[in-house]
Amino acid sequence: MTIIDKVVAAVTPLESEEERRSARATARQAANDAPWLARVLDHHQQIEAAFAAVKDAGDANGRRRAQKWLGTLLTGHSVAEEAVLYPAMALGDQKGHATAAYTEQSGAKINLAALETLDPMSQEYLDKLEHVRGAVAHHVYEEESKWFPALASEADAALQMRLSARYTEEFDRYMGADAAGL
Ligand SMILES: [Fe+2]
Repeated sequence: MTIIDKVVAAVTPLESEEERRSARATARQAANDAPWLARVLDHHQQIEAAFAAVKDAGDANGRRRAQKWLGTLLTGHSVAEEAVLYPAMALGDQKGHATAAYTEQSGAKINLAALETLDPMSQEYLDKLEHVRGAVAHHVYEEESKWFPALASEADAALQMRLSARYTEEFDRYMGADAAGL
């Protein structure tokens, strides 16, 4: 584990599948007045599917291809969150949450880079993949259960519209033609 992993692991109790489902349902409700949150939730589900595709790939080439897509999607999503949503949290009343969010996403980027150095068909690769998947799942839970519903509940319609336009702009700018259909 990297130092960032150890810091994150030390302060993060794990939630159950039921808690994750319930947080997502609550976040979907909160997304009614915040289009950016609906898009974020769609991207979280696509990221979960991308993790599963890496694990399920039957050979080294397929696994590398799936890993490349996972990395692209995770980076596009994190760039948009880091440029638009975490600053809005920090400028509101969630400075500590914003700092934790940046730290966790840095950890995921380091672990994804480490994954690229491993034999894709090895047990070590699968162990690392599961470690990153678990860390990202926890980060997503924090976003969906607390951080983003709190940001979405700020009763400023102009702010919510601006966040929606800016999140989409930054995500699409990174993803380019890959953004079609996401
Ligand atoms: Fe996210």
